[in-house]
Amino acid sequence: MSILLCPNCRTRLEQQGNRFCCRNGHSFDLASSGYLHLLPSSRMHAKIPGDNKQMVRARREFLSKGYYQPVSDALNAAVLEYCKKNVPLQMVDAGCGEGYYTNRLAQACADAGQEFSMVGIDISKFAVDAAAKSAARLPEIAPKVQYAVASVFELPVKDHSCHVVTNLFAPVCIEEYRRVLKRGGILVFAVTSTRHLWQLKERIYDEPYENEKFDHVYEGFEMVGKQKVSATISLPCQEDIDHLFTMTPYYYKSSVETTARLHALGTLDTEIDVDIITYRAK
Ligand SMILES: C[S@@+](CC[C@H](N)C(=O)[O-])C[C@H]1O[C@@H](n2cnc3c(N)ncnc32)[C@H](O)[C@@H]1O
Ligand SMILES: [Zn+2]
Repeated sequence: MSILLCPNCRTRLEQQGNRFCCRNGHSFDLASSGYLHLLPSSRMHAKIPGDNKQMVRARREFLSKGYYQPVSDALNAAVLEYCKKNVPLQMVDAGCGEGYYTNRLAQACADAGQEFSMVGIDISKFAVDAAAKSAARLPEIAPKVQYAVASVFELPVKDHSCHVVTNLFAPVCIEEYRRVLKRGGILVFAVTSTRHLWQLKERIYDEPYENEKFDHVYEGFEMVGKQKVSATISLPCQEDIDHLFTMTPYYYKSSVETTARLHALGTLDTEIDVDIITYRAK
């Protein structure tokens, strides 16, 4: 049974072939790549909300080279550690982007013999389209992963229906995550820590600042795990540097001179520093 809700009347959506329908007659067709569009136009605060095509492409190219695989592996380990006791697992990836982490987490569950269903939500239709296409190429997970265009600030997901919510480098709406999680369910964040991409930032800023530490206390949650993922990654070509730069917030803030300097680096070694933080819903 689907955990998805109709964005118009918030009643349950049922799949009927290539279409999801609610009992009040609203219906949503699957796009050819397999995703659903569940963001009402009245809630679209921009003509093209979320990451644009160029950012999605850059992130997809960069992540496909495996530079952030240690982050993905740590996320999968955090979820799998929790989920031994919960079968089948219902998961939501809030702000899933083009599905690199979402599909790898789904595949890790399949590899571990863990039953699951996964919903990936992102406000960018380009990201969700790419995510659905990647999932379709993975036969073990394809039938169990559903992507939808929607906002994390109004998830089209039933109350208390999820064992796991993941949120990786994406906007946070803690009230929504608490609403959709079951009691005892987990919320797993991946957040950039102090030294993340330090050497890239040194090439951008005269006096780079360290990122702030993420140690929020959230009402209705207790923190139950924290794992640091730190490493140095070596980017051997300009193309990879360009992709990394384009997927960071610095890209849109940098001057023409800085951008030109970054485009001429050739190679780059930089630290990555990410925390995987797990909260349990009380
Ligand atoms: C830095 S990317 C991270 C994507 C993915 N989790 C990853 O780590 O590869 C942030 C994502 O949040 C999405 N986003 C921004 N605002 C959003 C919102 N209100 N609801 C859902 N997604 C949103 C963007 O479209 C983008 O894909
Ligand atoms: Zn409806």
